[in-house]
Amino acid sequence: MSTADFSCREVKMDAKLFSPININRLRLRNRIAIAPMGTNFAKPGGYVSSRLIDHIVRRVSGGCGLVYCEAAYVDPAGIGRDRHLRIYSEEYLPGFREMTDAVHQVGGVIGIQLNHLGREANQNFTKTAPVAPSPIPSPWGGNKPSELSIPEIDVLVKRFATAALNAKNSGFDLIELHAAHGYLLEQFLSPLSNKRRDSYGGSTYNRCKFVLEVIDAVRKVVGLEFPLTLRMSVEEFWEGGLDIQESLKILQILQNAGIDAVSITCGVKGSLEYSIPQSVSPKGCYRELSKQIKQSLRIPIMVAGRIDDALVSTEIVESNDADIVVVGRALLADPDFSVKIQRDESDELRPCIKCNVCIDRLFKDLDIYCSVNPELGHEKDYIFSFSTSRKRVLVVGGGPAGMESARTCALKGHEVSLWEKERTLGGKLLYAAKELYKGALLDLVRWYERQLFRLGVKIVLLKEFNVAEIEAFGADYVILATGSSIIKLAVPIAEEANVYYAEEVLRQDIRLDGTVAIVGGGAIGLELAEMLLVKGADVLVIEKLQSIGIGLETLTKKVLLERLERLYCQIFTDMQVLEIQNSKVIVSHQGKVKELAANAVVMAIGYNSYNVLKEQLDYNRVKFLIVGDCAKVGKIGDAISGASQVCLSI
Ligand SMILES: Cc1cc2nc3c(=O)[nH]c(=O)nc-3n(C[C@H](O)[C@H](O)[C@H](O)COP(=O)(O)O)c2cc1C
Ligand code: SF4
Repeated sequence: MSTADFSCREVKMDAKLFSPININRLRLRNRIAIAPMGTNFAKPGGYVSSRLIDHIVRRVSGGCGLVYCEAAYVDPAGIGRDRHLRIYSEEYLPGFREMTDAVHQVGGVIGIQLNHLGREANQNFTKTAPVAPSPIPSPWGGNKPSELSIPEIDVLVKRFATAALNAKNSGFDLIELHAAHGYLLEQFLSPLSNKRRDSYGGSTYNRCKFVLEVIDAVRKVVGLEFPLTLRMSVEEFWEGGLDIQESLKILQILQNAGIDAVSITCGVKGSLEYSIPQSVSPKGCYRELSKQIKQSLRIPIMVAGRIDDALVSTEIVESNDADIVVVGRALLADPDFSVKIQRDESDELRPCIKCNVCIDRLFKDLDIYCSVNPELGHEKDYIFSFSTSRKRVLVVGGGPAGMESARTCALKGHEVSLWEKERTLGGKLLYAAKELYKGALLDLVRWYERQLFRLGVKIVLLKEFNVAEIEAFGADYVILATGSSIIKLAVPIAEEANVYYAEEVLRQDIRLDGTVAIVGGGAIGLELAEMLLVKGADVLVIEKLQSIGIGLETLTKKVLLERLERLYCQIFTDMQVLEIQNSKVIVSHQGKVKELAANAVVMAIGYNSYNVLKEQLDYNRVKFLIVGDCAKVGKIGDAISGASQVCLSI
């Protein structure tokens, strides 16, 4: 295995966020930790891969104080996926040694999270029934687990100890016990999943017993001076589950048992939106919880949860709400998070748009991918090499694919011009950003604007263009990024009916009152429905398929549908629109024709590629490449990564 040549950059030291802190005897150069995040970059069978090492090293080179390697399993019966790391036997250790060496070479500090999924284990991989403190299935689904016997508990305690020793021997600087997000250690702590009547269940102290035994066994093998942290969901956000009051008691018990720091998170499998906080949650959403914990514990407190900019990171540490901020997705979106904040270049931070694509890929057992950061997962190959021959590139269209094309080409050293027919860059992102909780899309547009300005891209706005003009421009390459056009519904529409397209409602801030029928229950239709409901309209969504939200990420869909239900959105599936008359929509459902009253109708059916220039341009006269929706309608991440790949080859 080899690693790409990333070296830690020099950073200036001033704010408390960038002051050193100790966990046990381990000195961290600053108070930004990279959250443990599964990637599926491991090799089949759970071995470390060079791709995973490059990914981690790239993040470490961005200047953080500590990086957590994603969770590694301590026991073959506690695993979830094939390409999740394992650390229970010697065969896995050479890969971990390469990982820790690579991180140390660039001056970083690396910890590893030890985990057992308990009742969340995936029987397809373990080939045995899942185990848990009590035979209660996960609220997330899955088989009923078998209750662990006391001899089985003893074996698992030893498994954690072996894994800890393996981690120490592999060169990790720190170990974290994963007692969060509804996995085995937390299953013992939580009254939701632990209904035992023996000494491992019942009182708060009894429910801590398994974790205490694990801490004790780990300490015996790694020694008192080896840093040991514990991650815990201090609010499970599930009725009858752990809350902050009980978590405080638990953490005091665990502190007395010898953990060196605690890392605060929330949520279990059934309330995953609290483990991966959504854009509806405020930035730094768990700082109040960590503040309470910090006031009653003496060990360092770490906190995660939408900590994604300079202000919230600095405020949390300065105001003593926590000692260390644990940053997740913001560091997937921009590996240089720490160094940019420290250099006072926060404007340069590429924003995470909270689209849930990364976590959704894990649910689907795919390697993670970031919608806004095409480098993620390709860190080694993605180093921009200056092109030896400088080309003249014209990008036509300033949506996400066009902006990324211009950025990539400019980074490669080409002379880049970008033509956009509207008065500002952004394309459809500008309208999508008007939907509720989608403001980060506008941050992304602003980020691109700053990047393109800094890179010297010549941007021409309000530019109407034709083939002759494009040919006359004399580009070596033309990148067609003209996006997509709205699909129109081919049904009779009465002249006096109030009919709009979703995009024009957003673009022109059209106010719709009374009952609004939205035709199309995909992402656009559902998100628009929420916005109109919040503004006071009654909304019904008409979808011709059997289900709605197709193509939405699992978590996005879950939380959006819950919000729509709370707002009394009416949803009709398996329903075909036949005609739109004044104040009513004629539909057919299972062979029966019906009328639905509606003061206005909004079409949200989707888009087709808009690529007329492709037909008109002659490739012999102009070399052109097609990117984004113009090539194939997709999601923002498809547009950005596709454009980046195409332009890297120029
Ligand atoms: C792709 C992905 C994988 C994750 N894997 C883990 C994990 O292995 N262990 C863990 O404790 N948390 C995991 N998390 C949760 C993060 O560590 C973090 O707590 C969460 O994303 C909230 O932080 P953020 O708002 O900064 O992203 C994961 C999150 C994401 C997005
Ligand atoms: S995929 Fe989406 S949610 Fe995940 S880090 Fe990237 S922008 Fe953020």
